[in-house]
Amino acid sequence: MFDSGSPLPPCSFVIFGATGNLASVKLLPALYRLEEAGRLPAGLSLIAQGRRPFDDGAWRDQVRQVLAPRLRPDPAVLDRFLERFDYLQGDLAAPDTYTRLKDILARPRMGVCSNVVFYLAIKPGDFADVIRNLDACGLNKPRGLHRIVVEKPFGTDIESARTLNQLLHRHFEEEQVFRIDHYLGKETVQNLLVFRFANTLVENLWNRNYIDHVQITVAEAVGIGSRADYYDKAGALRDMVQNHLLQLLTLVAMEPPPALEADALRDEKVKVLRSIRPVPRRFVHAHAFRAQYAAGQAGGEPAVGYREEAGVGADSVTESYVAAKFYIDNWRWSGVPFYLRTGKRLQENLSMIAIRFRHPPQQLFRETPLAQLEPNWIVLSIQPEESMHMEIHAKQPGLGMDTRVLKLNACYRNPEEKPLDAYEALLLDVIEGDRTLFIRFDEVEWAWRVVDPILKHWAQEREFIHTYPAGSWGPGESQRLFDGEDTAWRNGV
Ligand code: BG6
Repeated sequence: MFDSGSPLPPCSFVIFGATGNLASVKLLPALYRLEEAGRLPAGLSLIAQGRRPFDDGAWRDQVRQVLAPRLRPDPAVLDRFLERFDYLQGDLAAPDTYTRLKDILARPRMGVCSNVVFYLAIKPGDFADVIRNLDACGLNKPRGLHRIVVEKPFGTDIESARTLNQLLHRHFEEEQVFRIDHYLGKETVQNLLVFRFANTLVENLWNRNYIDHVQITVAEAVGIGSRADYYDKAGALRDMVQNHLLQLLTLVAMEPPPALEADALRDEKVKVLRSIRPVPRRFVHAHAFRAQYAAGQAGGEPAVGYREEAGVGADSVTESYVAAKFYIDNWRWSGVPFYLRTGKRLQENLSMIAIRFRHPPQQLFRETPLAQLEPNWIVLSIQPEESMHMEIHAKQPGLGMDTRVLKLNACYRNPEEKPLDAYEALLLDVIEGDRTLFIRFDEVEWAWRVVDPILKHWAQEREFIHTYPAGSWGPGESQRLFDGEDTAWRNGV
């Protein structure tokens, strides 16, 4: 998680589904950038599995085409990067694919190494084939050194998540399993730990005595693109809230762990998830709101509505927007609402954690123009900007007792410091075997418990879903979740 500075061990890194969307959009660019930064170990070989009939040369051309529009790669670095690859053409269900994989691993391109990473960048429906076949070929051993990385979604509800976990545990030890949530690789998310636990100033205010409510927003301007096949079955609650947003919530709300170690951190996160008050089925409407984008605008161009997207049925009630309210029933947070919101085709890309503080207990300025003082805010912006903002009051210079809000803005990054993609950090952690930023199964399970009543309730309401115009900030009706009359969504840092 935090760079140890020691050289990374040699490793064979196998990408199942290397010709798919996740590999093209996230994994290959992240690995290339690590190459460019000189962070890949000299002894790292990459094995790309796909069904398409490429040989090594055609695969390398394919990688060039994937990277060119995204990164403008440096030719020498790119050659070095491509040199690391073997292409493994094969079907995921066919045992022969794994026999050939075993042969490649026995004579890796970059020298012999005992560390092997299997990255499942494939449809969840194919997980079982890969997991069983790796075991059948003996590739799940040795236990400590062969690792398997599982992408979300980890199941589609609590039962399917348990089934998947049992399957994994039948063939791999827990210490070999890396459940990835790429939000934990984001700089600001990690900075949240430093911000909270390295500053006495902040931690003392971080509780129900001072905080009125917390808003966690992950807004995306994009639509579902070509992902209808997956997304229309998932919806925003499964796609974003069960994992990314609840992970953000745990980091905001957790107690300081006794040490910066994987299990210590995960223990604290689980305590938060366990303390989230269950939403009774009959109160789902008071706690959760769903909607779908209708036709509107995206980047100044007309955009179709969700139901007009390729692959989506005209009567789909899958949500592309969710707003939800949760309470954490513990000493620190009792009575403080956590409002979570995420959606596609919203006005802009913006992810942030906004903390609103309580009004001062004494109305000292009641008889002055300051009667309506705005509360203080701390806003941690995750993307596109990585920054921290604080809003406090100061008197305006002059004779009257008037005020202005001072906005203290701090960017974490100096202009010469290149932003790191979340996947870069997490892929290095996998190679290094550091599980701090990966999810333990009880986190997955408790997170499903939080969202399951909402999912089950919505599954029965197939007739109607609210809409919002593409390019807007979502439906105004989601305001109904707020406890306070003076509460509104914060749509900007
Ligand atoms: C993924 C979701 O996990 O996260 C996508 O499946 C979403 O629907 C993406 O677009 C958002 O990630 P980021 O890093 O772009 O905020």
